[in-house]
Amino acid sequence: MKNVWFISDTHFSHINIIRYCKRPFVDHEIHDAALISNWNGCVKDGDDVYFLGDFCFRSRTRAKEIRQKLRGQIFFIEGNHDSAAHQIRQTFAWYHQVKMVKVNDQLIWLSHYAHRVWDRSHYSTWHLYGHCHHSLPDDPFARSLDVGVDATAVRLGRPDIYGSGTIPDSGLRPEDYRPIHFDEIAELMQRKQFKPIDHHGQSETPQE
Ligand SMILES: [Fe+2]
Repeated sequence: MKNVWFISDTHFSHINIIRYCKRPFVDHEIHDAALISNWNGCVKDGDDVYFLGDFCFRSRTRAKEIRQKLRGQIFFIEGNHDSAAHQIRQTFAWYHQVKMVKVNDQLIWLSHYAHRVWDRSHYSTWHLYGHCHHSLPDDPFARSLDVGVDATAVRLGRPDIYGSGTIPDSGLRPEDYRPIHFDEIAELMQRKQFKPIDHHGQSETPQE
């Protein structure tokens, strides 16, 4: 089966993101180099990567330079900080605002922003998002997940507070700022107690 990865909110070359999100890097050059290295430590040539927004600050040139260093075919969902990414959109497999995709027979609604309901959410369609940088508590009853690098780093480094919607002052490790694999997401989704919200507001069991 093909390796498929998800990631968002790298904020390459965004100097203040280190302070805003308590990322464990001394400056943005070390930050960028580590995130590129972590990405390529996971993603191999031929893998697919769905990127859910907020790729790179600064310039088109910097965004292009970073894109060229990253392995894999990238499918891009635009975030609110993607003016540079938009200028190099031809380097991505596709570039959309939101998109429903099918991966390993799983329908997944992709958006930079977290939704409360989405197309076919009552049929257990997944929803993956970014944007909130682990500042939004996880919904344990919905098949949705923050796949931004800050959420992934908290999940790996501080599993005790993962999903709480906070970024801790300690326990975050540079190597954990990486894409999350489809199988890791499947495992996290299985741990949730899915409570479908029927779109007609009546039935416990979703029906057409
Ligand atoms: Fe962001």
